[in-house]
Amino acid sequence: MRKEIIGNWKMNGLLDSERTFRELIAGYASPSNAPSPSGDNSTRLTICPPATLLLHFARIASSMNSGIALGGQYCHRAISGSHTGEISAEMLRDSGARLTLVGHAERRAAGDREADVALQLRAALSAGLSAVLCVGERASERAAGGTRTKLREQLRAAIDGCLADACKTDASEISTSEASIANLASLDNALADGRLMLAYEPLWAIGSGETPGYEEIAETCSALAADARDILAERASDGARNGTRDRAWDGTSKLSISVLYGGSVKGSNAASILRHVDGLLIGKASLDAQELLAIVAASNKID
Ligand code: PGA
Repeated sequence: MRKEIIGNWKMNGLLDSERTFRELIAGYASPSNAPSPSGDNSTRLTICPPATLLLHFARIASSMNSGIALGGQYCHRAISGSHTGEISAEMLRDSGARLTLVGHAERRAAGDREADVALQLRAALSAGLSAVLCVGERASERAAGGTRTKLREQLRAAIDGCLADACKTDASEISTSEASIANLASLDNALADGRLMLAYEPLWAIGSGETPGYEEIAETCSALAADARDILAERASDGARNGTRDRAWDGTSKLSISVLYGGSVKGSNAASILRHVDGLLIGKASLDAQELLAIVAASNKID
């Protein structure tokens, strides 16, 4: 299966970071990064630079036919309007993004609540972007054996909130009941296209140099995918029952939902983690072109 590698540059990068981006483009195209001959396991690399560099990088990537995709780190929940300093999903898409992160731990720590994350997810999918919904537990929750419960709560809040009328907290932003129906359709399309991705990012692992054990990552990510399917199946049958949709998702258990891992991924642990997950969300190590390219090369060798 094709692996997803997503580099989250966070609030790092000025115009001269173009050099790093060009280094990535050159390396991504080089023969050492060629996928193994055995199959369809080429790696898709997406860089999420700060919004100020998005359009610039998108133009470079497209003029060089690089194959590297671009993404946003966050989008506002509204489509447009009086939200000084904010950026909409449509703006990200217009600037060349194919995806956006949603609910990253650093955004949540800065004040985004579950209800905001749910509406951001809705905004991203409605704008036609892929969304990487980030979830993760605190160290104390893990120590108390509460990881799965925490992740399930975050998933439920995001998915239910993405679809629920109750999320229409601001009438000027999402004003009619059609919004809910439209978003069921958006989610349908997003699922069918594999546009909803999940990223398991334990809070205590982000930027700390620590990671869970590989088995633990494998178990948690597969539980996350199963829980997401369950929640989606419930929402689908609710929708079919109350008439907001005319058919349930078919074969929900077969839905492809990629689950990425993030938190202190680096060149030395990337391949071992990647064997257990669909991809990686990488912060610090993605700022170093050669380290990121080594991870992509390792990913291409995984059968
Ligand atoms: P890190 O960040 O790789 O620097 O731990 C990961 C993230 O925040 O997505």
